[in-house]
Amino acid sequence: MSSFNFDVITLFPKAFELINNLGVLTRALDKNLINVNLHDLRQYGEGSYRQVDDKPYGGGAGMVLKPEPIYKAYESIKKSPKSKTLLMTPQGKVLMQEDLARWSSLNQIIIICGQYEGFDERVRYLADEEVSLGDYVLSGGEIPAMALINGVTRLLPGTLGAPESLLEESHQDVLLEYPQYTRPEVYKNMKVPEILLSGNHKDIKNWRQVQSLKKTLKRNNLLNKSIDKENKLIKKIISDYLKNGMPNIDELKLDKDKNFGCD
Ligand SMILES: C[S@@+](CC[C@H](N)C(=O)[O-])C[C@H]1O[C@@H](n2cnc3c(N)ncnc32)[C@H](O)[C@@H]1O
Repeated sequence: MSSFNFDVITLFPKAFELINNLGVLTRALDKNLINVNLHDLRQYGEGSYRQVDDKPYGGGAGMVLKPEPIYKAYESIKKSPKSKTLLMTPQGKVLMQEDLARWSSLNQIIIICGQYEGFDERVRYLADEEVSLGDYVLSGGEIPAMALINGVTRLLPGTLGAPESLLEESHQDVLLEYPQYTRPEVYKNMKVPEILLSGNHKDIKNWRQVQSLKKTLKRNNLLNKSIDKENKLIKKIISDYLKNGMPNIDELKLDKDKNFGCD
């Protein structure tokens, strides 16, 4: 199987040394599942100072990355047929698990990291997609790029020791993952829920589904969004839940008669 190539255009290639010490990523690098090829933007800078930035036309604070060095760096990268170019920008679409899953079927991602006040608007023409790590502003695209590389890599076959762990993870579908516990049974007076020690797999499965739903409701309420009651998976969980009559119904604010009320 050929390696997945991440080609990163950055002014701070040293920032990516971190990924050599990040468990899953290190393993993927060692097993040649991925290559992280760093393209130092400074090398493509202009003149004896290797200038990569300049003042914005029309005035304003800070410096803007010039288009020529970024285009030159971009053009120096060998493209594979299954390649996408992603521009790191707080103006982009906020990164979601489904994006990582979509990109994991490629074999190359070219990532362009901005710095300073960002980049000349003409750089946007290089991008297939614009990606934001979240609705806040960081000083550079390196941390978002590393998040993206990490998130895609752990979805690649052969990367995770236990790939089945991907199936029940948060954001894999609409639900967040249920609470997880490991030894010891009691820690600082906090006890592992009895049901997890019961050995009753059916009850444990039900309990986990209910907890997943509770966590999801809580988070969505915080975000002031309502959960998608028409979603097939949620409907199934609720109907299983109502059939099996698990104990925490009040806490969940589920009303058997009204079927499902999450307000
Ligand atoms: C200080 S930011 C520039 C922000 C720009 N002036 C604006 O208002 O849109 C510098 C660079 O950091 C990166 N960056 C900052 N926040 C980001 C975010 N939330 N997601 C992705 N990249 C981000 C981008 O590459 C951006 O070009």
